[in-house]
Amino acid sequence: MENTWEPGFRTQREETHDVAIDVRGTLPGWLDGTFVSNGPGQFEVGGTPLEHWFDALAMLRGFRIDDGSVRYSNRFVRSDDFRVARDQQRVRRSLPGTPADGTAFERLYRALSGAFQDNPSIGVVRLDDTLYAVTESPMGFETDPETLETTGRRDLTTGLDSDVTLGHAHFEDGVQWGLAAEFGRECTYTLFRRVGNRDAAPVSRLVFDHHPPYVHSFALTEHYVVVPEAPYGVDFRRLLLGTPRGATFLDAVSPREAPPRFHVLDRATGERVSVVRTEPFFVYHFANAYEDDDAIVVDCVAYPDSEAITGLTLSNLRRDDPDLPCGDFVRFRLPLHDGDAERTLLLRGPVEFPTIHYRRYNGRRYRYAYLAAIDRGALPTAIVKVDLDGQATARWSEPGLHPGEPIFVPAPSPTREDDGVLLSIALDGREERSVLLCLDAETLTERARAPLPHRLPYPFHGQFYGATDAGRSMA
Ligand SMILES: [Fe+2]
Repeated sequence: MENTWEPGFRTQREETHDVAIDVRGTLPGWLDGTFVSNGPGQFEVGGTPLEHWFDALAMLRGFRIDDGSVRYSNRFVRSDDFRVARDQQRVRRSLPGTPADGTAFERLYRALSGAFQDNPSIGVVRLDDTLYAVTESPMGFETDPETLETTGRRDLTTGLDSDVTLGHAHFEDGVQWGLAAEFGRECTYTLFRRVGNRDAAPVSRLVFDHHPPYVHSFALTEHYVVVPEAPYGVDFRRLLLGTPRGATFLDAVSPREAPPRFHVLDRATGERVSVVRTEPFFVYHFANAYEDDDAIVVDCVAYPDSEAITGLTLSNLRRDDPDLPCGDFVRFRLPLHDGDAERTLLLRGPVEFPTIHYRRYNGRRYRYAYLAAIDRGALPTAIVKVDLDGQATARWSEPGLHPGEPIFVPAPSPTREDDGVLLSIALDGREERSVLLCLDAETLTERARAPLPHRLPYPFHGQFYGATDAGRSMA
């Protein structure tokens, strides 16, 4: 089997500024705005190969789409981690799978003083008019959406007595809902609310011992927030003890004693209204959640165990026969007054990067979900559309191409939930070149593609910000 995914885990050092790229096919005339995506750019520091997919240095990809034409830029985020990596060829802070350079004492000192990485590779958020590159760290990096230049930084934990904010958040009418985490002998996840670009305000807290669940994202409904408590997480006592020897976050991921649960929090009061038991699971990403009588329906990509984290080492992903963790698209039905979750399979995996028509349907009953699906190898080979009412699916794939997260952009005044297009950055592993894809969201037929001047590593998450409707595309 031809390994077409390995180029997706290889460094691209070239930066591009505002070049026009050819469009084959026709982009909708109404598609007007900026698509910004974040993800890996560089996979080694000096002579040190980074170990885990989440360690790679962050690179932004930007597409300005206007009147059927596309201008492309890509640029590394100038974080402190990036500067030290480029100028001194050192790993400045411990990354999820790669220890920081330095002596045992230096490592321990940094761990005890709560020094975190600032390499913002997960995604982007916009607070009022300011775009930030973000990850699970205290820092957001202000970014010029036109040039992708790093123009400043902001401590996103201000007002929260927390160490980091998560890379994923929700947005509703200019208000951000997010989770922040504090790590130590006791670990706390704080649900917060942020109006515009002001400091965040805590709404509710979930307190765990030194071995909290790893939480990557959460779900939001009209009245509630759903936080997953997987029976896997980082044992911070073990991490601290191993830090002088170079132990990382990844080495400290282990099964927890607490049972797998979902916590349902009331958005208005912060009160925990329901704790729902379920079978062991791990989730990175939710597609959507909504209230249904006396229950909450939660759709997400669920993995059976913590190999979802530990299986994403770069040495595994680059292999010709990677041992890939398999996430299925599943539905949990959570009773609003404690009890057990009902779980149903929506689409067998491996699938990832679930997205929806976010602006209109997040937190509401919905019909269509879009996901990246893997037929073989370590990266997605197809985009699939799931009709949750009809169970029918549509699919796009092309040999050798690895499509990234599909971002739904609604048509102006949409007449149907799927009236719009999907944007996705795909890697052509045979030609070693990336392309911007535009698919019709109703049929998943291709409307246009725009080849980039080079190959990009496979990305994580992006957003489309319309010129007239600045709304967000995904969770
Ligand atoms: Fe994510």
